[in-house]
Amino acid sequence: MVLTYFEKKTSKEILDNTPSCNLYGEISANNLLIEGDNLNILQKLRDSYTNKIDLMYIDPPFSTNNIFTIGDTRVSTISMSNEDTVAYIDNLQGYNYIEFIRERLIIAKELLSDVGSIYLHIDYKIGHYVKIIMDEIFGIDNFRNDITRVKCNPKNFSRKAYGNIKDMILFYSKTKNVIWNDPKLPFSEYDKEKLFKKTDKYGRAYTTIPLHAPGETKNGATSGLFKGLKPPKGRHWRCAPEELEELDKAGLIEWSSKGNPRKIIYADEKDGKKMQDIWEFKDYQYPEYPTEKNIRLLKYIILASSNEGSIVMDFFCGSGTTLIAAQELNRNWIGIDKSKQAIRISKKKLNKIEKDFFSNCEYSYLGTDDNYESKTNIEKDYKVRHFA
Ligand SMILES: C[S@@+](CC[C@H](N)C(=O)[O-])C[C@H]1O[C@@H](n2cnc3c(N)ncnc32)[C@H](O)[C@@H]1O
Repeated sequence: MVLTYFEKKTSKEILDNTPSCNLYGEISANNLLIEGDNLNILQKLRDSYTNKIDLMYIDPPFSTNNIFTIGDTRVSTISMSNEDTVAYIDNLQGYNYIEFIRERLIIAKELLSDVGSIYLHIDYKIGHYVKIIMDEIFGIDNFRNDITRVKCNPKNFSRKAYGNIKDMILFYSKTKNVIWNDPKLPFSEYDKEKLFKKTDKYGRAYTTIPLHAPGETKNGATSGLFKGLKPPKGRHWRCAPEELEELDKAGLIEWSSKGNPRKIIYADEKDGKKMQDIWEFKDYQYPEYPTEKNIRLLKYIILASSNEGSIVMDFFCGSGTTLIAAQELNRNWIGIDKSKQAIRISKKKLNKIEKDFFSNCEYSYLGTDDNYESKTNIEKDYKVRHFA
């Protein structure tokens, strides 16, 4: 399925004809904070980062037609007093917005490593169109989740519609062979009581699960006899009878009064429960930057989909939430934003990490022709460091 609209470029046109840009600044670290339009910067980074980025998280403008501002005491999404400073303007609509996102995603895919993935944060109004565009670019087979993010407490809208308390995060991988660290959530006391109802003679809480699974294997080991028992009709043993014997010897099989064996699972041996696709990471009540995301959300994503030493990229980085989370989890990172306010707040937060965590948060700040004040062209150094 494809989305058809006026003046939609081909992928080849986007990859071949998007202008690159010069980057200015002092390269002193692997982490990069880059100020400027991400389209040309992504194109520029193809020279040195093609296939190198393990994880991208982006939280672009949502086509809201709003001006986002920062005042002395608060940030604002709609209203604007004369003293407020504009953080960013979100005014692209319809297919202009979709093409804006699509161009960037097509180039970004080139930078994504073969074990890489991308998470795109979006709202329910435009998100379904963006989903089609992502299917086109990354392939529907690489679509992994549409995560529901609960963003606020229930609201009393006067609108004739249900209250909106969620947005969504579209998660795609580049290939099937993606980094996946299977994040777990700790069991609550309620979970433990509900899931592990039994207690053994030493007081350890446990539950039991069947030793067989659906489907018959005709001649394989898992259709064989275990203590004289065949698996029930239409099912097979979860492992070969020899392994079941080992489990039994280790005391990990419970026999019912009717002689049915079940595997014992202890609560204290499970590292938590699998994370599902509805997440509650509410926005901050007093953000430093409009639409700033909850850093805990980013930490889960980074832990699940990258490894220590991976490069994590956010090319709509705003106040640097992704960058801070990546830094604290020992990942390398690249952040891009074209807003002066976003860069100012990102720098402020990044510079604070050193004091809080006693770790070295080293990064290079780079700019483009549009914004880098000193305009010392370090193109040569940049090439030495990144294009060698
Ligand atoms: C929703 S905010 C991101 C907020 C961020 N996730 C945070 O936690 O602070 C979107 C950001 O995209 C930036 N942006 C919009 N268009 C851009 C472009 N063409 N190039 C670079 N940044 C852009 C805006 O300046 C804004 O900071």
